[in-house]
Amino acid sequence: MSTTSDQSGERFLPLSEPCLQGNEWQYVKECLDSGWISSVGAFVNRFEQRVAEYVGVKHAVATVNGTSALHVALLAAGVEPGDEVLVSTLTFIATANAIRYAGAHPVLIDSEPRWWQMDPQLVRDFLRRECRAENGELRNRVTGRRVRAIMPVHVLGHPVDLPAITAEAEAFGLRLIEDAAESLGASLNWRKIGATSDLACVSFNGNKTITCGGGGMLLTNSQSDAERARYLTTQAKDDAVEYIHNEVGYNYRMTNVLAAIGLAQLEQLDGFVQRRREIAAYYREHLSGCGLTWHTDAPGAVSTSWLSTALVDPLQCGVTACELRDELQRAKIQTRRLWQPMHLSPAHREAGAVLNGTADRLFERALSFPSTPNLTDADLRRVVAATEGVLRSRKRRAA
Ligand SMILES: Cc1ncc(COP(=O)(O)O)c(C=O)c1O
Repeated sequence: MSTTSDQSGERFLPLSEPCLQGNEWQYVKECLDSGWISSVGAFVNRFEQRVAEYVGVKHAVATVNGTSALHVALLAAGVEPGDEVLVSTLTFIATANAIRYAGAHPVLIDSEPRWWQMDPQLVRDFLRRECRAENGELRNRVTGRRVRAIMPVHVLGHPVDLPAITAEAEAFGLRLIEDAAESLGASLNWRKIGATSDLACVSFNGNKTITCGGGGMLLTNSQSDAERARYLTTQAKDDAVEYIHNEVGYNYRMTNVLAAIGLAQLEQLDGFVQRRREIAAYYREHLSGCGLTWHTDAPGAVSTSWLSTALVDPLQCGVTACELRDELQRAKIQTRRLWQPMHLSPAHREAGAVLNGTADRLFERALSFPSTPNLTDADLRRVVAATEGVLRSRKRRAA
């Protein structure tokens, strides 16, 4: 595994990896003993029910991964081929890809500079200036396409300004689908992320706040959206006995074995989030004033601090984000830049975009540091010492 020590005895410090120290083995054994290892079983039901209770929604539908949850959420929300969906340009590519799987077109919205989330002002400007109402629908004036939904991403597990974005969605009759892949465990104004919009999707990928190895879940308070999602994720099966399918569906349901792991992980979620937040606070306390500016929480927001991320000022630090990453890699410390924004991605460059330069700046300067909950205090001291060492030597060289 990536955390094993080499001959020098120094452990590789990963960015974010699974911590499997709870009831995972016990629940997987129970699952295997039961013989129910496929996509139906008690663990799937229990996992769905517990995540729904934790977030505070009525329905949950477990899927094979977060991307499939996003795809099906769009379909359940009524997004059709040719529609447009507003989405954060600063995201992992799966969010924009899911819109394309639905045959729809992403409209890429930049981040606000303070918390790095979808900028509500840009959403407002686009909907008010670039769109017009026609026969009870909203259409993009330039493309003529129907605008159907907004899909904000809680980047790095920090809440989007949901009240502002929800107000826009409601004013224009748009469906609101949250990409909460990185934010299971976050809250805004005392409500858990995922509880307040039409649909929300989480991911249980290996690097997320909790993991099943791979998995996802769609959350909603709407019974009809939940039923539609359940139907579409089980091959659109219209008859429990006969092979009758009135539509093209998907084989997207999570297996019982993975749900067993997920259930054990969920029991540890609050502890994991607390530790990720402690790690973020540690870096902020010990690595500030040296040209690194750390991401913090907005008022009323409790982030999962999924990744601890700083902006690297090359003038003050004497290094760019990429150079710092490469130096720390030599010290067996993994750091990562943020994703290439979707408006720069060859896969989505054709999409419409409403930009203010923030995502470009974040792409150039942001660097995420090791954030795995099982990092020890000694590991964190090592990260701080190594980073200070790089910055000191670069400054000496520059002097
Ligand atoms: C913001 C975001 N959206 C979607 C996904 C896709 O989730 P999955 O890998 O479970 O398909 C991820 C992470 O993988 C993500 O970080």
